[in-house]
Amino acid sequence: MTDAILTARPILERFSLVGRTALVTGGGQGIGRAYAHALGEAGAAVAVVDLSLSHANDVVDELKAKHIECFAVQADVSKADDVQAMVDAVVQKWGKLTIGVNNAGIARWSAAETMTEAEWDQMLDLNLKGVFLCAQAEARVMLKAGYGKIINTASMAGTIAVTPQNQVHYNASKAGVIHLSRSMAAEWAPRHIRVNTISPGYTRTKLVDDLLLTPEGQAILPRWMGMTPMARMGEVTDLQGAVVYLACEASDFMTGSDLIIDGGYCAW
Ligand SMILES: NC(=O)c1ccc[n+]([C@@H]2O[C@H](COP(=O)([O-])OP(=O)(O)OC[C@H]3O[C@@H](n4cnc5c(N)ncnc54)[C@H](O)[C@@H]3O)[C@@H](O)[C@H]2O)c1
Repeated sequence: MTDAILTARPILERFSLVGRTALVTGGGQGIGRAYAHALGEAGAAVAVVDLSLSHANDVVDELKAKHIECFAVQADVSKADDVQAMVDAVVQKWGKLTIGVNNAGIARWSAAETMTEAEWDQMLDLNLKGVFLCAQAEARVMLKAGYGKIINTASMAGTIAVTPQNQVHYNASKAGVIHLSRSMAAEWAPRHIRVNTISPGYTRTKLVDDLLLTPEGQAILPRWMGMTPMARMGEVTDLQGAVVYLACEASDFMTGSDLIIDGGYCAW
C-alpha cells in the first residue's frame, strides 16, 4: 500500500487554486469582495458577480491591480435567467467553472408578529432561493466536468437564534441554506461535487454597519460584544482562509459541513 503522506503534494501546493475558475456572488463589497481577493490571490480566475455592476467593476479593478484574471458580471441571483446567464458567461470566457461561491444576501430586522408577507418573500427569495438557483446552475456544469466546489454563505444565525434583534425570516433563510447545502452535498457527493457552508458571526461590513446605525442598533452593539468571547466584531479578512480551504483540493474529503467563524459566539 502506498503511503499517502509521503506521496501527496506538499500541503501549501494543495491550497493552490492555479488553473481553477471561480465566481463569487455579492462580490461587489463586504464578505464577497474579500472572498474574490482571497481566491484570486490563491491563483484562481474570478468572476465578480453583483447586483451592482459598478461595485463589481470596482472590485475587478482592485483584482487586476494584483494581476488576477477576472471580469465583472451583473446579476440578480434571485432571478433564474440572470443566474443562468452568469454561469454561461464564466463558461464562455474560461471554458469551465470549478468554484461557485454563493454569498449574496440581505439582512433586515422586523418583529415576527408584524412582519409582512412581502418582507418574508424578499428575504427567502434572495437568501435561500438565490443560493439554490446558483448552486443548481453551477452544478450542471460541474457534474459534466466531474469536479466542483460549491461554497454557500450561511450565518451563525442559521444554527442559533441570535438576540436581541428580531429577524426570524433571516434566521430561517440561513438555516435553510445550511440544510439545503447538506442535502445537495449528499446528492452530489458520488459525482464529486462538494457543497459546504461558511457561517460568519458578526462581521464588519456595510450590511452590519447599516443596521447598527439605526437607534435600535446603537443599543445592540454592546450586547453583541458581551456575548462574543473574543469581544470584537469579525473582519472580512478573518473569513478569507476558510474560503480558500473549501475551494482547494486540501478539503476534497469535506462535504455537507458548516464552518462557523464567530469569535466563539456559538461556543457557549
Ligand atoms: N456581515 C455579517 O455580519 C454577516 C454575518 C453572517 C452572514 N453574513 C452573510 O454574508 C453575506 C454577505 O454579507 P455582507 O455583510 O458582505 O453584505 P453586504 O451588504 O456588505 O454585501 C452584499 C453584496 O450582495 C449584493 N447583492 C444584494 N442583493 C443581491 C442580488 N439580488 N443579487 C446579486 N447580488 C446582490 C450587494 O449589492 C452587495 O454587494 C450575506 O449572505 C450575509 O447574510 C453576513
